[in-house]
Amino acid sequence: MAKTSQATWGGRFTAGPAELMLRFSESVSFDRRLALFDIAGSKAHSAMLAHVGLITAAERDAIHGGLDAIAAEITAGKFAWDTKLEDVHMNIEHALTKRVAAAAKLHTARSRNDQVATDMRLWFKWACGVLGEKIAAAERALLGVAAANRTVLIPGYTHLQRAQPVFLSHHLLAWLEMLDRDRARLADVAAHANWCPLGAGAIAGTTLPIDRGYAAKLLGFTDAKGRPQVTQNSMDAVADRDVFIEFANAGALFGVHLSRIAEDLILWSTAEFRFADVSDAFSTGSSLMPQKRNPDACELLRGKAARLQGNLQALLTLVKGLPLTYNRDLQEDKPPVFDTFDQAALCADVLAGVLGGLKFHPDRCAAAVSDPALLATDLADYLVRKGVPFREAHHAVGAVVRLAEQHTIKLDQLPLEEVQQVHEAFGPDWTQVFDPARGLALRTGTGMPGPAQLAKQLKRWQRRLG
Ligand code: ARG
Repeated sequence: MAKTSQATWGGRFTAGPAELMLRFSESVSFDRRLALFDIAGSKAHSAMLAHVGLITAAERDAIHGGLDAIAAEITAGKFAWDTKLEDVHMNIEHALTKRVAAAAKLHTARSRNDQVATDMRLWFKWACGVLGEKIAAAERALLGVAAANRTVLIPGYTHLQRAQPVFLSHHLLAWLEMLDRDRARLADVAAHANWCPLGAGAIAGTTLPIDRGYAAKLLGFTDAKGRPQVTQNSMDAVADRDVFIEFANAGALFGVHLSRIAEDLILWSTAEFRFADVSDAFSTGSSLMPQKRNPDACELLRGKAARLQGNLQALLTLVKGLPLTYNRDLQEDKPPVFDTFDQAALCADVLAGVLGGLKFHPDRCAAAVSDPALLATDLADYLVRKGVPFREAHHAVGAVVRLAEQHTIKLDQLPLEEVQQVHEAFGPDWTQVFDPARGLALRTGTGMPGPAQLAKQLKRWQRRLG
């Protein structure tokens, strides 16, 4: 048989693709990172072919031996990738064909459409695990900072205006909640990836008597009881890219969280706040201004969020108008998810590094939280305890705050008589509320910033993160 064209699909062609077309259509430059997943998929597929009698055990063993040798070459960086062979699948199949005669039977009852869908699902399960571990490491670094600074008070902010005193650690544990949701989201994505598309073929399955469950089980596409999970519609199996979008979404939302954490840290490290310093290891200087020390790591964490969102947008747009089922557009599904993985993994490591090197300035935090006006809400609660309806109490305390401002004195320095003129429910004990420790100790409900709650939450996180 004369080979005029591309080795694997060239049978019906008389001329090969243009050099420009090869450069345009190749994906091996980026999908070669799927190589080990592709080989795992091919080993399971050929084991299944032998299991149902479509190839012999000897052919299966020859294929497995060849694939193992190719995997070793790839791992050692000695494999010769060829863009003329388009993608990772054809590069590996071609290399196998040169070693093993039975390689010609490997693609029985399989298409690159179900093959690439399988490779990617294996990759997503792996990627979610790796990223989850990295986020867990950042969470542990964060928990360390929260545990080490548990007596420091800062103002909590709304509208970026000082609102009410909280423990610094309560603020840090809010970040921890965000990161832990990111980790849970990735676990959900991995669970959604856990369905095996092999056997869907190009679009319509196969006439050959394959055993889909057998291959799925070998690849670990199983439920909690070890039962294989296979996709239920061959057309959906090769057209569906939901998991790509969900993964990019998890990455984008992680980016949003990174960005908000970074923004807090950038504010905190200004001369105006000076609650904290980012370590030298994660700061940079200015080429012009010798005194500068910039929290660049945090600014880049904030900046990477834009890129992570862009990857999600690219995928949504890519899939949006596509007719069922596979279209070559879908080859463009990989660069955004690989980039999301690479950048999110890097960000998680950097976040852990930044958090590990944070230094807080308790004196600056104490100064910022010292204004008794931050306890105005507690003062309203004081009146409520004396039977005053909350709206009335809120109004009275507002008037007291205005009075202090008129006298240009601190709220707690107002004479009792003047305060009592505003509302007769104020008693001689009214200044007790201006002890922030007292106010926090009263905040005992779940999720509140009181010291008992903080201790409980720190313990919960320690148990959870190990
Ligand atoms: N490199 C291709 C991709 O990633 C593999 C699937 C090719 N399928 C096809 N029918 N040309 O989309």
